[in-house]
Amino acid sequence: MGAIDAGSYLYGHAYRIVYDFHIDDANRFFGFSEEEFFLSAAMAAVPVADSEEITLPKAPIEPCDATGGIFEHNALIERAYRETLPLRGCKAQPAFPKMTFHPAAWEEAILKRRSTREFLPSPMSHAAYEAILESVAMPVPSDCDEPLQIYSVVNRVEGMEPGIYRGTKRLKSGDFSQKAAYLCLEQKLGGDSGVTFFILSNGCNYRALYQKAGLIGHRIYLVSVYLGLGCSGIGAYYDDEVNDFLEDDGMVLYAVAAGVPKA
Ligand SMILES: Cc1cc2nc3c(=O)[nH]c(=O)nc-3n(C[C@H](O)[C@H](O)[C@H](O)COP(=O)(O)O)c2cc1C
Repeated sequence: MGAIDAGSYLYGHAYRIVYDFHIDDANRFFGFSEEEFFLSAAMAAVPVADSEEITLPKAPIEPCDATGGIFEHNALIERAYRETLPLRGCKAQPAFPKMTFHPAAWEEAILKRRSTREFLPSPMSHAAYEAILESVAMPVPSDCDEPLQIYSVVNRVEGMEPGIYRGTKRLKSGDFSQKAAYLCLEQKLGGDSGVTFFILSNGCNYRALYQKAGLIGHRIYLVSVYLGLGCSGIGAYYDDEVNDFLEDDGMVLYAVAAGVPKA
Protein backbone atom coordinates (compact mmCIF):
# COMPACT_ATOMS: atom_id res chain seq x y z
CA MET A 1 0.00 0.00 0.00
CA GLY A 2 2.89 2.32 0.79
CA ALA A 3 4.39 1.57 -2.60
CA ILE A 4 1.09 2.48 -4.27
CA ASP A 5 0.98 5.71 -2.23
CA ALA A 6 4.53 6.62 -3.29
CA GLY A 7 4.11 5.50 -6.90
CA SER A 8 0.83 7.34 -7.41
CA TYR A 9 2.66 10.64 -6.96
CA LEU A 10 5.37 9.62 -9.39
CA TYR A 11 2.96 8.52 -12.08
CA GLY A 12 0.42 11.25 -11.44
CA HIS A 13 -2.61 9.09 -10.86
CA ALA A 14 -4.96 8.98 -7.92
CA TYR A 15 -5.53 5.89 -5.82
CA ARG A 16 -7.84 4.81 -3.05
CA ILE A 17 -7.54 1.93 -0.62
CA VAL A 18 -10.61 -0.28 -0.35
CA TYR A 19 -11.25 -2.45 2.68
CA ASP A 20 -14.92 -3.11 2.01
CA PHE A 21 -15.01 -5.57 -0.86
CA HIS A 22 -16.00 -9.17 -1.37
CA ILE A 23 -12.95 -10.60 0.33
CA ASP A 24 -14.23 -14.17 0.55
CA ASP A 25 -15.01 -14.16 -3.17
CA ALA A 26 -11.61 -12.66 -3.97
CA ASN A 27 -9.85 -15.30 -1.84
CA ARG A 28 -11.84 -18.04 -3.59
CA PHE A 29 -11.19 -16.63 -7.04
CA PHE A 30 -7.44 -16.42 -6.45
CA GLY A 31 -7.37 -19.91 -4.96
CA PHE A 32 -6.27 -18.60 -1.56
CA SER A 33 -7.09 -20.55 1.56
CA GLU A 34 -5.18 -20.60 4.83
CA GLU A 35 -1.75 -20.01 3.33
CA GLU A 36 -2.48 -16.46 2.24
CA PHE A 37 -5.46 -14.18 2.05
CA PHE A 38 -6.59 -10.73 1.00
CA LEU A 39 -6.35 -7.87 3.46
CA SER A 40 -7.24 -4.91 1.29
CA ALA A 41 -7.46 -3.71 -2.27
CA ALA A 42 -6.65 -0.46 -4.03
CA MET A 43 -8.11 1.31 -7.00
CA ALA A 44 -5.87 3.44 -9.14
CA ALA A 45 -7.05 5.85 -11.79
CA VAL A 46 -4.89 4.47 -14.57
CA PRO A 47 -5.92 5.37 -18.11
CA VAL A 48 -6.98 2.33 -20.12
CA ALA A 49 -7.06 2.51 -23.92
CA ASP A 50 -10.51 1.98 -25.49
CA SER A 51 -9.23 -1.03 -27.35
CA GLU A 52 -8.07 -2.72 -24.17
CA GLU A 53 -10.54 -5.26 -22.92
CA ILE A 54 -10.31 -6.43 -19.35
CA THR A 55 -11.65 -9.91 -18.76
CA LEU A 56 -11.41 -12.23 -15.83
CA PRO A 57 -10.63 -15.88 -16.37
CA LYS A 58 -13.75 -18.04 -15.92
CA ALA A 59 -12.17 -20.67 -13.71
CA PRO A 60 -10.49 -19.78 -10.42
CA ILE A 61 -6.76 -19.32 -10.60
CA GLU A 62 -4.77 -22.47 -9.79
CA PRO A 63 -3.49 -22.25 -6.22
CA CYS A 64 0.26 -22.36 -5.82
CA ASP A 65 2.04 -23.23 -2.62
CA ALA A 66 4.36 -20.32 -2.00
CA THR A 67 5.81 -22.07 1.06
CA GLY A 68 7.35 -24.92 -0.91
CA GLY A 69 5.40 -27.56 0.96
CA ILE A 70 6.34 -26.48 4.46
CA PHE A 71 3.13 -24.60 5.24
CA GLU A 72 1.82 -25.16 8.76
CA HIS A 73 -1.61 -24.09 9.92
CA ASN A 74 -1.68 -21.47 12.60
CA ALA A 75 -5.05 -21.40 14.28
CA LEU A 76 -4.35 -18.06 15.96
CA ILE A 77 -3.48 -16.28 12.70
CA GLU A 78 -6.48 -17.79 10.95
CA ARG A 79 -8.80 -16.77 13.78
CA ALA A 80 -7.32 -13.28 13.94
CA TYR A 81 -7.85 -12.95 10.19
CA ARG A 82 -11.50 -13.98 10.36
CA GLU A 83 -12.22 -11.85 13.41
CA THR A 84 -10.69 -8.71 11.92
CA LEU A 85 -12.51 -8.97 8.58
CA PRO A 86 -15.80 -7.27 9.56
CA LEU A 87 -15.71 -3.49 9.40
CA ARG A 88 -17.57 -1.29 11.87
CA GLY A 89 -18.52 2.37 11.60
CA CYS A 90 -16.00 3.17 8.87
CA LYS A 91 -15.42 6.79 7.92
CA ALA A 92 -14.15 7.33 4.40
CA GLN A 93 -11.19 9.59 3.72
CA PRO A 94 -11.86 11.15 0.31
CA ALA A 95 -8.90 13.56 0.38
CA PHE A 96 -5.73 12.78 -1.52
CA PRO A 97 -2.19 13.55 -0.32
CA LYS A 98 -0.66 16.64 -1.93
CA MET A 99 2.99 15.76 -2.24
CA THR A 100 5.47 18.26 -3.61
CA PHE A 101 8.66 16.22 -3.94
CA HIS A 102 11.02 16.60 -6.82
CA PRO A 103 9.89 13.66 -8.97
CA ALA A 104 13.36 12.44 -10.01
CA ALA A 105 14.68 12.60 -6.44
CA TRP A 106 11.50 10.93 -5.18
CA GLU A 107 11.95 8.12 -7.67
CA GLU A 108 15.56 7.73 -6.57
CA ALA A 109 14.43 7.54 -2.93
CA ILE A 110 11.94 4.79 -3.85
CA LEU A 111 14.58 2.83 -5.74
CA LYS A 112 17.42 3.34 -3.26
CA ARG A 113 15.56 3.04 0.04
CA ARG A 114 17.22 0.56 2.38
CA SER A 115 16.95 0.20 6.14
CA THR A 116 19.61 1.96 8.17
CA ARG A 117 21.45 -0.50 10.39
CA GLU A 118 23.29 2.11 12.50
CA PHE A 119 22.83 5.82 13.16
CA LEU A 120 25.51 8.40 13.90
CA PRO A 121 24.76 10.33 17.09
CA SER A 122 24.48 13.55 15.07
CA PRO A 123 21.42 15.77 15.06
CA MET A 124 19.06 15.87 12.11
CA SER A 125 17.74 19.22 10.95
CA HIS A 126 14.53 20.71 12.22
CA ALA A 127 13.39 21.23 8.62
CA ALA A 128 13.75 17.48 8.00
CA TYR A 129 11.74 16.69 11.13
CA GLU A 130 8.99 19.05 9.97
CA ALA A 131 8.99 17.60 6.45
CA ILE A 132 8.52 14.11 7.88
CA LEU A 133 5.66 15.33 10.10
CA GLU A 134 4.05 17.02 7.12
CA SER A 135 4.08 13.83 5.05
CA VAL A 136 2.67 11.86 7.95
CA ALA A 137 -0.19 14.32 8.39
CA MET A 138 -1.28 14.02 4.76
CA PRO A 139 -4.47 12.03 4.20
CA VAL A 140 -4.48 8.37 3.27
CA PRO A 141 -7.41 7.95 0.87
CA SER A 142 -9.53 4.95 1.78
CA ASP A 143 -13.05 3.78 2.54
CA CYS A 144 -12.14 3.18 6.20
CA ASP A 145 -9.89 5.78 7.71
CA GLU A 146 -8.86 5.14 11.29
CA PRO A 147 -7.21 7.67 13.61
CA LEU A 148 -3.56 7.11 14.53
CA GLN A 149 -1.66 8.71 17.40
CA ILE A 150 1.91 9.39 16.35
CA TYR A 151 4.42 10.15 19.10
CA SER A 152 7.97 11.31 18.50
CA VAL A 153 10.76 10.60 20.93
CA VAL A 154 13.07 13.41 19.90
CA ASN A 155 16.62 12.32 20.66
CA ARG A 156 18.59 14.80 18.59
CA VAL A 157 16.87 17.29 16.31
CA GLU A 158 18.45 20.72 15.80
CA GLY A 159 16.62 23.46 17.67
CA MET A 160 14.38 21.05 19.59
CA GLU A 161 14.53 20.15 23.22
CA PRO A 162 14.81 16.36 23.54
CA GLY A 163 11.62 14.81 24.80
CA ILE A 164 8.33 13.24 23.88
CA TYR A 165 6.29 15.12 21.31
CA ARG A 166 3.04 14.75 19.48
CA GLY A 167 3.69 16.58 16.26
CA THR A 168 5.42 19.78 17.34
CA LYS A 169 3.74 19.82 20.76
CA ARG A 170 6.10 18.80 23.55
CA LEU A 171 4.51 16.50 26.09
CA LYS A 172 7.58 15.79 28.22
CA SER A 173 11.13 17.15 28.24
CA GLY A 174 14.20 15.03 28.79
CA ASP A 175 16.71 12.76 27.15
CA PHE A 176 14.76 9.55 26.61
CA SER A 177 17.17 8.05 24.09
CA GLN A 178 18.17 5.14 26.33
CA LYS A 179 14.58 4.48 27.21
CA ALA A 180 13.59 4.57 23.51
CA ALA A 181 16.32 2.04 22.68
CA TYR A 182 15.13 -0.17 25.54
CA LEU A 183 11.48 0.08 24.42
CA CYS A 184 12.53 -0.99 20.91
CA LEU A 185 13.41 -4.39 22.35
CA GLU A 186 16.80 -3.12 23.42
CA GLN A 187 17.83 -2.14 19.90
CA LYS A 188 20.33 0.71 19.66
CA LEU A 189 18.56 2.06 16.57
CA GLY A 190 15.72 3.43 18.73
CA GLY A 191 18.09 5.54 20.85
CA ASP A 192 20.76 6.58 18.33
CA SER A 193 18.20 8.02 15.91
CA GLY A 194 17.37 11.70 15.60
CA VAL A 195 13.77 10.77 16.29
CA THR A 196 11.95 7.53 17.01
CA PHE A 197 8.27 7.53 16.16
CA PHE A 198 5.74 5.30 17.89
CA ILE A 199 2.45 4.81 16.04
CA LEU A 200 -0.59 3.85 18.13
CA SER A 201 -4.30 3.62 17.50
CA ASN A 202 -7.52 3.39 19.47
CA GLY A 203 -9.57 2.67 16.38
CA CYS A 204 -11.83 -0.37 16.10
CA ASN A 205 -11.08 -1.57 12.56
CA TYR A 206 -7.81 -3.37 13.11
CA ARG A 207 -7.38 -4.44 9.49
CA ALA A 208 -7.59 -0.84 8.30
CA LEU A 209 -5.66 0.81 11.10
CA TYR A 210 -2.57 -1.36 11.04
CA GLN A 211 -2.28 -1.11 7.28
CA LYS A 212 -2.55 2.66 7.57
CA ALA A 213 0.25 2.56 10.18
CA GLY A 214 2.39 0.59 7.72
CA LEU A 215 1.72 3.10 4.96
CA ILE A 216 2.63 5.99 7.26
CA GLY A 217 5.80 4.13 8.26
CA HIS A 218 6.66 3.80 4.59
CA ARG A 219 6.17 7.54 4.08
CA ILE A 220 8.57 8.22 6.97
CA TYR A 221 11.06 5.83 5.37
CA LEU A 222 10.89 7.46 1.95
CA VAL A 223 10.84 11.08 3.09
CA SER A 224 13.88 10.38 5.30
CA VAL A 225 15.80 8.90 2.38
CA TYR A 226 14.61 11.71 0.11
CA LEU A 227 16.11 14.21 2.59
CA GLY A 228 19.41 12.33 2.81
CA LEU A 229 18.62 10.76 6.16
CA GLY A 230 18.35 7.13 7.14
CA CYS A 231 15.42 5.22 8.53
CA SER A 232 14.55 1.83 9.94
CA GLY A 233 11.22 0.30 10.76
CA ILE A 234 11.06 -1.25 14.21
CA GLY A 235 8.49 -3.98 14.50
CA ALA A 236 9.86 -5.39 17.73
CA TYR A 237 9.12 -3.45 20.91
CA TYR A 238 7.75 -3.92 24.40
CA ASP A 239 4.12 -3.04 23.78
CA ASP A 240 2.95 -2.65 27.38
CA GLU A 241 5.96 -0.61 28.38
CA VAL A 242 5.51 1.68 25.37
CA ASN A 243 1.94 2.23 26.60
CA ASP A 244 3.17 3.12 30.11
CA PHE A 245 5.90 5.38 28.79
CA LEU A 246 3.58 7.33 26.49
CA GLU A 247 0.67 7.23 28.94
CA ASP A 248 -1.54 6.03 26.10
CA ASP A 249 -3.25 2.67 26.19
CA GLY A 250 -3.81 2.47 22.41
CA MET A 251 -2.55 -0.48 20.38
CA VAL A 252 1.13 0.01 19.58
CA LEU A 253 1.36 -0.71 15.86
CA TYR A 254 4.78 0.31 14.66
CA ALA A 255 7.91 2.21 15.60
CA VAL A 256 10.12 3.97 13.07
CA ALA A 257 13.54 5.47 13.72
CA ALA A 258 14.94 8.23 11.49
CA GLY A 259 18.26 10.03 11.73
CA VAL A 260 21.72 10.51 10.35
CA PRO A 261 22.92 7.17 9.00
CA LYS A 262 26.41 5.81 9.48
CA ALA A 263 27.87 5.75 5.99
C1 LIG B 1 7.53 -3.56 9.61
C2 LIG B 1 9.04 -3.56 9.76
C3 LIG B 1 9.57 -3.83 11.01
C4 LIG B 1 10.96 -3.86 11.17
N1 LIG B 1 11.47 -4.10 12.41
C5 LIG B 1 12.82 -4.06 12.60
C6 LIG B 1 13.37 -4.24 13.89
O1 LIG B 1 12.67 -4.39 14.89
N2 LIG B 1 14.72 -4.19 14.01
C7 LIG B 1 15.55 -3.97 12.94
O2 LIG B 1 16.76 -3.93 13.13
N3 LIG B 1 15.04 -3.78 11.71
C8 LIG B 1 13.71 -3.83 11.51
N4 LIG B 1 13.18 -3.61 10.26
C9 LIG B 1 14.09 -3.39 9.13
C10 LIG B 1 14.27 -4.70 8.42
O3 LIG B 1 15.31 -5.42 9.03
C11 LIG B 1 14.58 -4.42 6.95
O4 LIG B 1 13.47 -3.74 6.41
C12 LIG B 1 14.80 -5.71 6.19
O5 LIG B 1 16.03 -6.25 6.59
C13 LIG B 1 14.83 -5.45 4.68
O6 LIG B 1 15.82 -4.52 4.36
P1 LIG B 1 15.48 -3.19 3.58
O7 LIG B 1 14.47 -2.40 4.37
O8 LIG B 1 16.81 -2.48 3.50
O9 LIG B 1 14.95 -3.57 2.25
C14 LIG B 1 11.81 -3.59 10.06
C15 LIG B 1 11.26 -3.31 8.82
C16 LIG B 1 9.89 -3.27 8.66
C17 LIG B 1 9.33 -2.94 7.29
